[in-house]
Amino acid sequence: MTVKIAPSILSGDFSNMGAVIEKLEQTDVEIIHIDVMGGQFVAPITFGYQMVKTLRPRSKKIFDVHLMVQTPEVQIPQFIEAGADMISFHVETSKHPHCYLQQIKSAGVKAGIVLNPGTSAQVIKTLLEEVDYVLQMSVNPGFGGQSFIPRVLENIEQLAKWREKEHLSFAIEVDGGVNEITAAACRKSGVDILVAGSGILEKDDWQVAINQLRD
Ligand code: DX5
Ligand code: ZN
Repeated sequence: MTVKIAPSILSGDFSNMGAVIEKLEQTDVEIIHIDVMGGQFVAPITFGYQMVKTLRPRSKKIFDVHLMVQTPEVQIPQFIEAGADMISFHVETSKHPHCYLQQIKSAGVKAGIVLNPGTSAQVIKTLLEEVDYVLQMSVNPGFGGQSFIPRVLENIEQLAKWREKEHLSFAIEVDGGVNEITAAACRKSGVDILVAGSGILEKDDWQVAINQLRD
């Protein structure tokens, strides 16, 4: 399976997100990654559901919402309503992750669970039958432009092994510090979706950067 590339608009121009989305619309990616930070689980505050709702009519791409919030149970219904196609939340902030996954899926949205770099894959083993995807953070969440933490490849390899052994079909997404070099290591470990912010949006030609990560 060829790896999918998901550009993160966190590295886009915050004063002109409509133009960022329209420029991404011109590329061949299927997925746009949207980093929702709430100021508590991570310090920055980025986008709310209102922004996603107003961007929705401007794009046919899959909207992949990554919730970095303290109260996913509050934001999940908002982003379902705003038109997200994929919603993931951190296991580290969730009181009832199994329930939230079911809630997302029952709305016809793909459901993902997120692991911080310091969290063992073992923590989500009992959720793997419920998830459409696992998002493995390869930096500590909060900021773009950080360096990839190689140790997370162990989690990815473990997840890929369980997926095979238990005949499951969840996708593995990796997020943070993805460049041409780290992308190759991720692909080898079993990753299906590569998120990249600075590695695409800070480059002159986004399509060229996308091609380089994919190939
Ligand atoms: C970080 C975000 C990432 C971020 C990645 O908390 O979850 O999606 O945009 O940025 P890069 O690709 O620059 O590391
Ligand atoms: Zn993200």
